[in-house]
Amino acid sequence: MVAYKSKMVERIRLPARDQRERNLEAAGYNLFNLSSDDVFVDLLTDSGTGAMSDAQWAALIRGDESYAGSRSFAELEDAVMDVMGFSNVVPTHQGRGAENVLYGALLSADDVALNNTHFDTTRAHVSNQGADPVDCPVSAAHDPDSEEPFKGNFSLERARAVVDEVGADQIPLVIQTITNNSAAGQAVSVENTRRVREFANEIDATFVIDACRFAENAYFVRQREDEFTEAAIADIAREQLGYADALVMSGKKDGLVNAGGFVATDDGALFDRCKQRAILYEGFPTYGGMAGRDVAAMAVGLREAVEDAYLEDRIEQVREFGARLAAAGLPVYTPTSGHAVYLDAGALFPHLDPGEFPGQALVCELYREGGVRGVELGSFAFPDTDRPELVRLAVPRRTYHREHFEHVVETAETVLEKRETVSGLELASDPEMPEIRHFTAELEPRSS
Ligand code: F0G
Repeated sequence: MVAYKSKMVERIRLPARDQRERNLEAAGYNLFNLSSDDVFVDLLTDSGTGAMSDAQWAALIRGDESYAGSRSFAELEDAVMDVMGFSNVVPTHQGRGAENVLYGALLSADDVALNNTHFDTTRAHVSNQGADPVDCPVSAAHDPDSEEPFKGNFSLERARAVVDEVGADQIPLVIQTITNNSAAGQAVSVENTRRVREFANEIDATFVIDACRFAENAYFVRQREDEFTEAAIADIAREQLGYADALVMSGKKDGLVNAGGFVATDDGALFDRCKQRAILYEGFPTYGGMAGRDVAAMAVGLREAVEDAYLEDRIEQVREFGARLAAAGLPVYTPTSGHAVYLDAGALFPHLDPGEFPGQALVCELYREGGVRGVELGSFAFPDTDRPELVRLAVPRRTYHREHFEHVVETAETVLEKRETVSGLELASDPEMPEIRHFTAELEPRSS
């Protein structure tokens, strides 16, 4: 059921087809290089792109900009305690700031960090400490057709194989990302979180939850995990997060704000180390690179994120979008995640090899045909892995309506009809850091 009406609107425009063609070429066939004015429906990310509520805007006006001891920070501490159950908070400018603060405090050169799947900035931050990021997804994670309910889970079997290989002493950090963004946003069960807690105890590692989409995950837990069908979402979220030693959070997702993030922990010694690093890289630990007003809005957003009406509106909108694409014949990854619909470009374009970047070809076609912007998460974003050629159509929170999704489905249908004529791409530039090349690399259509 719809849970919102609009109080403010933003004009959007669909550029003419020949203009879209020129925009694509000028952007080097990399949609990160497009001007947002040239995008009609922007599904590049759900990160920081949502609409704030009237209560958040009200909090913004009352934000306290004091350098130290800001009242807005006290509001954030209260919200983190009530919603997530942690007593110490280090605010940061966004999630990757929190990753830098926390992983810099926990990792040294030659360590290994385990994660159900490292998100790209997580991988880069672990590598940046000289440590080795190793993914431990369950095998169903990379099967776009499996209907298993918790394909985002952390594989203890894989993790134990790494322990056998490198030894427990080498692994000071175990991360669980909920939902598992880089594995098609799949959900993680509370039972799996409990097992990871036990595993971290066994090897004497710190257990961190990347909580970016913790509320969406809790919604899936209630839907799919027998033990929790009658539980309140807020209680599920608190229980799941409570197994961790620390959280890294991007407020741009389930904090329902446009900027912000934090580290949270009950471990006093770790809190002190994080505060020192935060002063170096983010700001004084009662604002951490955020404006006080943004801290205030995030405190309200965290509470809204675990409301039933919000989550039902949110998750059902994404589910319906996925169902419409599937009904139109597009290869949709199942089950649909909480924040995005993932398309399997490998299945859509069987005539293209991974080296021809079928996912990026699909992203470009969606823009060419309908001014829609998605993002590739296959061979272009993740060189040298054997992931499926996924394209993510991420849904900003509380932003688009049914008509926008109808337009995207019609656009995808047009691409489906011309699928055999779509050609691949090749790299025209090669940025220095391969982990994040997809943000800046340019491409060109393959000449053959
Ligand atoms: N962890 C996960 C699981 C994420 O999805 C992201 C961001 C981050 C950490 C970093 O947070 O952007 O606030 O610095 N994901 C965005 C996305 C960018 O599009 O999926 P950030």
